Amino acid sequence: MIDKLRIGLGEDAHALGLGRPLVIGNIVIAEAERGALAHSDGDVLLHALADALLSAFAMGDIGHYFPPSDPAFKDKDSSEILLHLLGLIRSVSAAFRIHNVSAVVTLDKPKLGKYRDLIRERVAALLGIEPAQVGLTFKTSEGLALGHIQARVSVLLSLL
Ligand code: C5P
Ligand code: MG
Repeated sequence: MIDKLRIGLGEDAHALGLGRPLVIGNIVIAEAERGALAHSDGDVLLHALADALLSAFAMGDIGHYFPPSDPAFKDKDSSEILLHLLGLIRSVSAAFRIHNVSAVVTLDKPKLGKYRDLIRERVAALLGIEPAQVGLTFKTSEGLALGHIQARVSVLLSLL
């Protein structure tokens, strides 16, 4: 059994700037004054999740498949990136099942607690799992990284 288990870990961060929507787990955070300065929609949670999934199969990272310099990805909805990579992983690996996702988002402002269930539901739907399989915690940087957002994601999978 243990030889069929895979763990993946991913991380992403972006600087925050005015005039950009803040998107976390494919949900727009309406109260945010600043959003991620990024080529795509800057969704750190989905980018870290995509990297965690790729890493579980030692398939490199998101930039290998979606180069940041490619104009095709300007303001791109990161859920499309995630779904594309999931399809790619399924096409080259054995079939697999996702057991759980555990994620941390670090952001000083705004507080995100009221978005927790919405984000968990969206991430679960994208992955084809249940919200109960998506753990999501929020942290501030205690003022040490006021201009940044960061996400760290781990996934546990098993080959079928
Ligand atoms: O970072 P710190 O431990 O001070 O965060 C305290 C709590 O604030 C967290 O456990 C979380 O419940 C909440 N929080 C939040 N949204 C953030 C950051 C923290 O809801 N952006
Ligand atoms: Mg604390």
